[in-house]
Formats: sequence, C-alpha cells, structure tokens
Amino acid sequence: MRNFVAQTVQQLRPSGIRRYFDIAATMDDVVSLSIGEPDFVTPGHIVDKGVESLRQGNTRYTSNSGTIELRRAISDYIYRLYGLHYNPDDQILVTVGVSEGMWLALKAILDPSDEVLVPQPCFVANPAAVEMAGGVSVPVDTCAENDFQVTGAQLEAAVTPRTKAILINYPNNPTGAVLSCDRLKEIAAIAEKYDLMVLSDEIYERLVYGVQHTNFASLPGMYERTILLSGLSKSFAMTGWRIGYVCAPPAIMEAVRKLHQYLIMSAPTMGQVAALEALQHGEDDVAAMRSEYDTRRRLIVAGFNELGLTCFEPRGAFYAFPSIAATGMSDEDFCERLLYEERVAVIPGSAFGRSGAGHIRASYATSQQNIERALERMQRFMRRHG
Ligand SMILES: Cc1ncc(COP(=O)(O)O)c(C=O)c1O
Repeated sequence: MRNFVAQTVQQLRPSGIRRYFDIAATMDDVVSLSIGEPDFVTPGHIVDKGVESLRQGNTRYTSNSGTIELRRAISDYIYRLYGLHYNPDDQILVTVGVSEGMWLALKAILDPSDEVLVPQPCFVANPAAVEMAGGVSVPVDTCAENDFQVTGAQLEAAVTPRTKAILINYPNNPTGAVLSCDRLKEIAAIAEKYDLMVLSDEIYERLVYGVQHTNFASLPGMYERTILLSGLSKSFAMTGWRIGYVCAPPAIMEAVRKLHQYLIMSAPTMGQVAALEALQHGEDDVAAMRSEYDTRRRLIVAGFNELGLTCFEPRGAFYAFPSIAATGMSDEDFCERLLYEERVAVIPGSAFGRSGAGHIRASYATSQQNIERALERMQRFMRRHG
C-alpha cells in the first residue's frame, strides 16, 4: 500500500518538546520545569460563570465571530490597555486559542511558497503553522548577547522578493525576552520598507515584570499592517477553555473569518462566557498571578546564575533560558542526563530553533517549592558536571 500521509505533513519536524515529556512520564518523582502553561487553576468566579451558563442550557454554537458581548469586551480590554480601537463588528474574531488564530491568519495571507520571517528561538508551533499554511518559514537567528531581541538589520538581511510577513512573539516563548519600543520600531520600519504584514503573537502581553509591553499595532503606521493575536490562556490561567482572538483591519478579517467559519464554526460557548467574566472582572487575578510569577522568576534566575548557568534576565512570560556552556554538554545531552540522573525536566533550547542551542528552557509556572527542589538537584548535577 502506498504511504497516504501527505508530503507536506511528512516534512513537518516533530516537536522537540514531546520527547522529554514522554520520558518524564515513565519516571517517578520528577520535578518538572518543562510545562508551558500556568500552574494556577482558573479563578473561581470565572469557572462559576462557565458552569452556570452550561446549567442554563447555553450549549449551542455562537455566532461565527464569537458572541457580540465577548467581542465588545475584547474591544474594551484592548482599548483600556493600549488606547487602540478595534470594531467588534468587523475587526475581532474569537478563536480556539491563539493556536487557531495563528493558523487562520497565516492561511489568510499566504500563497504557496510565500516566505515568513520568524525570529528564533521561538514557540515550536509557529514555524510549523507557516508550513501548514503552505508558506516557507525563514528563521532569523537572535542571540544571547542581544538578550534574544531581533534587530531590524537581522530581519532586513533575510528579506527576499517572496517575503510576505514577519511573525513576532514578544514577550517570547522560550526566552522570556520583551522587545523595547525602539527595537519594535526597527521591525515596523522593515515592514514599511518592504511592504510586509506583521503577525504579532502577544499571548504573554500581561506577564511582564518591571517593563512595559508595547502592542505592535499601536506603533505609528502599524495598525493597518498588523494581525494581532492574543487570548486568555496565559494571562487568566485559562488554557483548557480554548479562547483566543484575532484583531486586524476589516479586509484581512473577512478572509480570516471565512476560514474560521468553515473550519471551526465557533469557539467553545462555555469558554466564551468564562472569557467575558475574565475580561470584565479578572484584573485582580491577573495582578496576583503576575506578582507570584515575578517572585519565582527572581528565585530561578538567581539560582541558575549561582550554579554557573548564566541567565540573562527574562522580562516576560514565565520562562528562563540559561546557557549551559559551563558544562560543555550539548543542550540535548544536558536535558537527558539531568532527567535521568536528577529527575529534573527542562527543555533543550535547540527545540526552539538552532539559535537556542547551548541553552535550556525552564518554566517557572510551578511552585516556589518545586523551583527550590529543582535547583537543589541541579546543584548536585553541576557539582559533577560543571
Ligand atoms: C507563544 C505562544 N503562542 C501561542 C500559544 C498557544 O496559545 P493558545 O492556548 O491560546 O492556543 C502558546 C502556548 O504555549 C505560546 O507559548
């Protein structure tokens, strides 16, 4: 029998993250710093609204674009945060997380072989989404010396006549980097100069520590060129509710909505009700979780630096991305040995692109106690291998 799996799918690289989860799942007493989602459960008042709505029989599809109440709340939320106005009628679409939104946005703008510049290290799903949408993902390497911030010059060097878009994600998974306003303006200048669209994945926008997050669409001239992607998964500890949103100029949104309508119909109804509650009454929850992440961030970064695992200061998301150069190991060897020898799970930086090599991603979306236990075990490991 022939191989029925499409070439395009065969060519997709399997996620480098999975392997470590699979190994860890076979072991006892593993301290995991590998998880990319909040360890908090969704705040009670948000859960209650979702459950109540189910009990009231609210179990049908919603409008394709999402309920108008939620779209209005998203519009108000973005206005409150950034002073930007998106019209709930034709500029906002509620999606099944940023995951769906990213795919729709790429599919809406890419013709076969169009190129998308993707600064790396980056979230594993983003280059894959470009390929799945028929485009070509062009990695643009960033480096630790620059705190993993992409520069305009690096992007410009990768532009070709086929380049159609730039896909950015700040605050960044896996590095925790937040881009300064000046650096974002460099990206804006390249987008303008070469007539490119910018897809801005701002899922970690609310998780920044001691710095300000700049919404890309709010930069001069960028509103028309930006497809803004965000959601409630990380800021409100709502990963399982599967609610995100896309905001863009009406012409782009029409294409995005058309795809969503055939693919998904509507995002989960219960999730939309809960998201409305979160956006309207969840600010204190966001502040409390952010403050706890910040304490853990300081604990883990100081701990890594003491162990000789040099770690630049991550200013956003909930990841630290230290260098493991002091051990002389490859990042993959380091992660495997650390898991087998000390039962601590972290992810090799190279899983997020070649420029992540020599680093590990450690998530601090776990308790302070777990972080302390992981650091103790890593201290033993570093005594043997440092
Ligand atoms: C950078 C980034 N974008 C998007 C997602 C997916 O978000 P969602 O739950 O909204 O689909 C993640 C999840 O880890 C992420 O890290």
